[in-house]
Amino acid sequence: MKISKESLRGQTRLAEERSVAERGGVPEPVRIVMQRSGFKELNPLQRLALEEGVLGERNMVICSATASGKTAVAEMAFLKSLIERGRRVVYIVPLRALAAEKYDEFRRKYEPLGYRVTVQSGDRDLSKSPLSLRYDILVTTSERCDSILRSRPMWFEDVGIVVVDEVHLLDSEDRGPTLEMVITKFRKMNPDTRILALSATIGNPEELAAWLDASLVISDWRPVKLTQGIYRNRRLRFIEEEGERIEEVQGTAASPAVRLVEDVVRRRKQGLIFASSRRAAERLAEDAAEAVEPYLTEDERVRLGDLSEKILSVVDYPTEQCRRLARVVRRGVAFHHAGETSEQKRLIEDHFRSGLIKVVCATPTLVYGVNLPAMRVVIRDLKRFSGFYSEYIPVLEYRQMCGRAGRPQYDDHGEAVSIAKSKAEEQVIEERYIRGSIEDITSKMALEPVLRMHILGLIASDFVRKWEQILDVVLSTFYGHQYGSSSQLEGKIEAVIRDLIEYGFVELRDGSYLPTPIGRRVSELYIDPDTGYRLCNALLERRRRKKRASALALLLMICYTVEMRPLLRLGNNWGEMEEKLEELGKESLVSPPKEWGYEYEEFLRALRTSLMFEAWINEAGEDRIMKEFGVPPGGLRAKLETADWLLYAASEISRLLRAGARAELEKLRVRVRYGVRGDVLPIVSIPQVGRVRGRALVRAGYRSLGDIR
Ligand SMILES: Nc1ncnc2c1ncn2[C@@H]1O[C@H](COP(=O)(O)OP(=O)(O)OP(=O)(O)O)[C@@H](O)[C@H]1O
Ligand SMILES: [Mg+2]
Repeated sequence: MKISKESLRGQTRLAEERSVAERGGVPEPVRIVMQRSGFKELNPLQRLALEEGVLGERNMVICSATASGKTAVAEMAFLKSLIERGRRVVYIVPLRALAAEKYDEFRRKYEPLGYRVTVQSGDRDLSKSPLSLRYDILVTTSERCDSILRSRPMWFEDVGIVVVDEVHLLDSEDRGPTLEMVITKFRKMNPDTRILALSATIGNPEELAAWLDASLVISDWRPVKLTQGIYRNRRLRFIEEEGERIEEVQGTAASPAVRLVEDVVRRRKQGLIFASSRRAAERLAEDAAEAVEPYLTEDERVRLGDLSEKILSVVDYPTEQCRRLARVVRRGVAFHHAGETSEQKRLIEDHFRSGLIKVVCATPTLVYGVNLPAMRVVIRDLKRFSGFYSEYIPVLEYRQMCGRAGRPQYDDHGEAVSIAKSKAEEQVIEERYIRGSIEDITSKMALEPVLRMHILGLIASDFVRKWEQILDVVLSTFYGHQYGSSSQLEGKIEAVIRDLIEYGFVELRDGSYLPTPIGRRVSELYIDPDTGYRLCNALLERRRRKKRASALALLLMICYTVEMRPLLRLGNNWGEMEEKLEELGKESLVSPPKEWGYEYEEFLRALRTSLMFEAWINEAGEDRIMKEFGVPPGGLRAKLETADWLLYAASEISRLLRAGARAELEKLRVRVRYGVRGDVLPIVSIPQVGRVRGRALVRAGYRSLGDIR
């Protein structure tokens, strides 16, 4: 079914010939997408997808170039399901930035037609309110979707189509298994739910299509020409099908990456630099700010000044990182990485799109699917440090980064330039990345912790009961398709079930595996079974003592879990942590591991992490947290979210075990949420009163809501 370039060109012509006026016979969903998106005509990929039956019943895998308009194809398919059958839509994406983009886009286009769109992109959501039935389209991540699936809400009973955007995520070790489990569950729950999988970068789309029993559409057509090049020794060499071309780079910056973007800003275009670490992204942004500033207009300077203030005001106590960000933004540049808060990232994305920010230096937070106005993308590092040494990144990722350049809405051509540090590297870039082929994707399902999490999920949500059913679901995943049944796999599943029985989460009764109440709750809470077991043990210890646990003991309990990873590093604090551990002594609800080996270090790191939380609830500012613990505001927010969720999980488990710790856990949870001591709690419950104002009010003598009224 592979389509040659020749036939695609033919189809392009055909598409051009069919004028806009002839659209009478166009199916309703297609007409709506075109009208709501303002497209004059369908592009060749979209025509091809229609010819191959995207409005039909079968599952479909679309593997086509970046920027080829796959989203619109998905929109046609989901509108069909909505219009003709009134069945709901799930749209799964890998990144928050992408979820936000798709949510905004679908809402803008389809809410005026009466379809309601919602987004749920955090990994978990503690609100117990079920997904409201009034929504028609859910944009979500695979983790969040799996978490919602576990409570088997009514909403999911009538899903007509699941769009899996950036389906190559299946290959990811930590996120792929959840995605395949989600797809498998949808298919098992309702065999006529359609699956539409999209990607630009899969080496083995045939295999994926075979798994999904889907028709396959492959195309390398791209609406905007994308040229790949290599920069070395001040020489920019573009490698194209027709041959090579050397282009001059004009710029004064010392750093090659910065010079490459300066060269486009000079021509009133925008640039995006990908770096391999947060620090590198920040440093590049500082250099870029220097180079970009002279090209700003007076009006832009004023608006950037305002934006810069806004970015600072997002946190109570700006850290050095926030100030650095504000400084570069003032000069038309930003960095974008996981250390920033989501509000900050959102502001940067919006203002890069509006053209006010000229250059963004990003880590891979922006690598998949997003539409940004970068005429030139610079890939500074093709190697990434992974544990002990640096490795070349997969071709898949390289192509995705390139794909952010030259998006049709913004540019009429795009350039992706990698920087080579040596002649040998130049050769690798050309052969492996520019001319080489993309890797095959493989399932990462067979790791035991992964299986444990998902098998508990299956049993706890009454998805399966019998051994054969469990095996059937595992074999229906992409893993099962790729590797089939084996005694090794069965042995692993058996071992996992044994663990779950030992944890007290599953029981075997009359040949059926049934969840215990606590096993069910652990699964719904979407915590790792191992974490569930650890929390149970600590809380049973609390019950035995019949004495309130200290905040630090509770914090340590939630920090010594896989969810809290990566834990803070020890650096040269090893000795200090051992002292703290001694101080904590019997107060701890978790007994420390033996003093050798990996687990002990992990425990000390958990302790250091809990000390950071303790500082936070004792009202340390973001700046101090950064200085003392090396955690930037975005990192802190992410950890606080995890803590909130684990405290809630612990409180739920405490309820089931009658451990008596609910009150102290709930109080701690509110303190963690607001970052305050106990005396400010009555005041921070007032909307708009944060930790800083709350403390000021208490200092001024207000102790409760009544005092203020
Ligand atoms: N028929 C069309 N006419 C004009 N513009 C279009 C058409 N179809 C899609 N586009 C525009 O092309 C841009 C890229 O589309 P989209 O984001 O769907 O690409 P994609 O194939 O998903 O790429 P990626 O693999 O990078 O995610 C969007 O701005 C979209 O509005
Ligand atoms: Mg896309």
